[in-house]
Amino acid sequence: MHIPKTVAIKRIIKETETVKTFIFDFHSDNVIPGQFMMVWNFEDEKPMSISLIDPEKNEIGISIKKVGPFTEAVHSLKVGDKLGLRGPYGHGFELKGSKILAVGGGVGMAPVAAFVEYARNKNVNVDVISAAATKEELLFMDKLKSTDITAYACTDDGSFGFYGFPTQLMEEILQETDYDMIVTCGPEIMMKGIFEIAEKHKIAAQFSLERYMKCGIGLCGQCCVDDIGWRVCVEGPVFSIDDIRLISEFGNYKRDASGIKHNI
Ligand SMILES: Cc1cc2nc3c(=O)[nH]c(=O)nc-3n(C[C@H](O)[C@H](O)[C@H](O)COP(=O)(O)OP(=O)(O)OC[C@H]3O[C@@H](n4cnc5c(N)ncnc54)[C@H](O)[C@@H]3O)c2cc1C
Ligand code: FES
Repeated sequence: MHIPKTVAIKRIIKETETVKTFIFDFHSDNVIPGQFMMVWNFEDEKPMSISLIDPEKNEIGISIKKVGPFTEAVHSLKVGDKLGLRGPYGHGFELKGSKILAVGGGVGMAPVAAFVEYARNKNVNVDVISAAATKEELLFMDKLKSTDITAYACTDDGSFGFYGFPTQLMEEILQETDYDMIVTCGPEIMMKGIFEIAEKHKIAAQFSLERYMKCGIGLCGQCCVDDIGWRVCVEGPVFSIDDIRLISEFGNYKRDASGIKHNI
């Protein structure tokens, strides 16, 4: 299971100027939204959330934002080019609750989109907020709008949808609608705000955390979080709100490849 499988890129969708979705043939029966793949371009290897799960076509997709050398190299690939994939890894989102609010910030919409599709297929009521800095960076809005789902867009600069942060939009939505679960992935500063809202309104919640990873399978200890020592690659990346209360570094700092702490 831990040996990368070499797979050809089947389709590429240009989602925005900086985000592309890469689709592969992959046995996806047992893939859970919120899980990630270790993606190897035969030089470097990085974790990427699964953004599309199609058990009927046996396909998975990953949506990659171009931010540095690895992601630039993957963005330059064409259909038919190959990547090494291992996984799926980690603890994904649990489908709990009867009325769910899913919130994705930036490329954090990747696992949120997979979760929303999964919940929809199980006839669970889910509303979505897709948030980004600008209209150009909003992810999956067209796809969401083509379904029966209530999807809110939210931009920091007000260029589309709600003008402001998703936490501000959430406070407005929560005045009108009751939810019994919040599911989120995105910048940790955003998730910290969502954690505070969930605590205030006493709503259960699940958070997908991002930490620097090396092995992806719980061996190297690179992704351990203070003080509790859980490995984000095994016990996470999705943690419940009860778990988050025990992760003292949440919303405060994260470590880089050499273990140095960087404030969030
Ligand atoms: C569980 C998990 C799931 C992930 N899922 C995804 C995913 O679905 N899609 C995705 O694109 N990435 C995802 N990531 C992040 C990804 O693994 C890489 O860390 C990221 O793509 C940086 O790769 P790079 O080598 O190109 O850039 P680097 O050389 O590592 O970084 C270049 C610059 O970009 C900044 N940067 C690094 N990561 C990000 C980021 N995510 N957003 C904005 N700026 C960043 C760095 O601070 C640096 O300044 C995930 C990470 C984890 C742990
Ligand atoms: S990346 Fe090695 S333990 Fe998580």
